Amino acid sequence: MDHRRVLLAVSGGIAAYKVPELVRALRADGHEVRCVLTRSAAEFVSPLALQTLSGSRVRAELFDAEQEGEIDHIALADWADLVVVAPATAHVLARMAHGLADDLVTTLLLATRAPVLVAPAMNVNMWAHPATRANVESLRGRGVLFVGPASGPLACGWEGEGRMAEPAEIAASVRLALGPASLAGRRVVVTAGGTREPLDTVRALTNRSSGKMGFAVAAEAARRGAEVVLVAGPGGLATPAGVRRLDVETALEMREAVFAELPRADALVMAAAVADFRPAERAEHKIKKEDLPEDAAPTLALVRNPDILAEASRRPGRGVVVGFAAESRDVLAAAQRKLERKGCDLLVANDVSRADAGFDSDSNAVSFVWPGGDVEELPLLSKSEVAARLWDRVEKLLGSGA
Ligand SMILES: Cc1cc2nc3c(=O)[nH]c(=O)nc-3n(C[C@H](O)[C@H](O)[C@H](O)COP(=O)(O)O)c2cc1C
Repeated sequence: MDHRRVLLAVSGGIAAYKVPELVRALRADGHEVRCVLTRSAAEFVSPLALQTLSGSRVRAELFDAEQEGEIDHIALADWADLVVVAPATAHVLARMAHGLADDLVTTLLLATRAPVLVAPAMNVNMWAHPATRANVESLRGRGVLFVGPASGPLACGWEGEGRMAEPAEIAASVRLALGPASLAGRRVVVTAGGTREPLDTVRALTNRSSGKMGFAVAAEAARRGAEVVLVAGPGGLATPAGVRRLDVETALEMREAVFAELPRADALVMAAAVADFRPAERAEHKIKKEDLPEDAAPTLALVRNPDILAEASRRPGRGVVVGFAAESRDVLAAAQRKLERKGCDLLVANDVSRADAGFDSDSNAVSFVWPGGDVEELPLLSKSEVAARLWDRVEKLLGSGA
């Protein structure tokens, strides 16, 4: 089984008495487990039991003079491949939904970049309350994963929805959320975002790529256990958990970063929208209209940027190389021509003229275009799902020694 790091956050519901069983199930699956508790949680489950079963020190306090520095709360948030909140009380869901950070558990939940899986447990009326419903919807919208609650007799005497999912079911959701570790031991390089080609000290040529697709590709590879280097153009997206990010601005910088990493990479996925052209010259100071004759505008001379995808595809001994093609008309024919020109193993074609796909959207409608002319058209999917399908294909290519 996979060896992954699960941070288990326990909040103060009666179902906390089942958490020792959950720790055992997670350890039986081969995961490393560390437990953190809210103050109320310690009323329901013994920290000593969790410490013994997890084999790791249990923490409940944000301010812990003995521990802070050794394993400070940010290091703990960064350590996790997945954070599981079980049981998740109505109170902890509310604090998560509102971004509060008033104890160790909620501070970790704000600081972590790992996916979060919650197992709510509470009285049926607390679960049905509009405040809880709104909090759950808001968390789901942010990508928080849920398991349960189940229906049945509740500890409070009521019957209905609110029972924490059974430990075995939570452990199964953990396996799903962590993914199959099918890329463990692999090293991959992913590029994302657009590039910015400066004209002078304040202006630049750029494009509309948000980087969301490339970030999703990097996140999925990390989730599957790969060592991931993400070469990212300018943009404010958060770095996915377990990903080493190299920020670049121009196509030339992106090329340098990619080729520095490529010799050790099993796969390169070029999801970045690299500028084809850059200004021939970069003015040392802001170009001012006062310096030009009345009504005159400067002429912009452009030069070609290197073609990173084609160059990487031609490198001897390279791993699997995947390109992306953003097209707005005759998408498949254009992608087929691009694939032949570049010589990569797979081209992901997307129609950027659609409003529900392409730049800045959370979803994408892509086709996988293969050498020889085969095309797989995928339905409209979330970018995370597109990334998962992409790595399924790349894993096959890696397995076949491409
Ligand atoms: C005996 C008892 C059982 C409780 N069980 C639950 C529960 O199952 N779910 C829940 O949301 N709150 C439950 N509560 C209320 C929480 O403990 C309370 O809201 C607390 O503030 C939660 O703090 P925490 O979310 O920081 O752990 C229970 C309280 C008591 C006294």
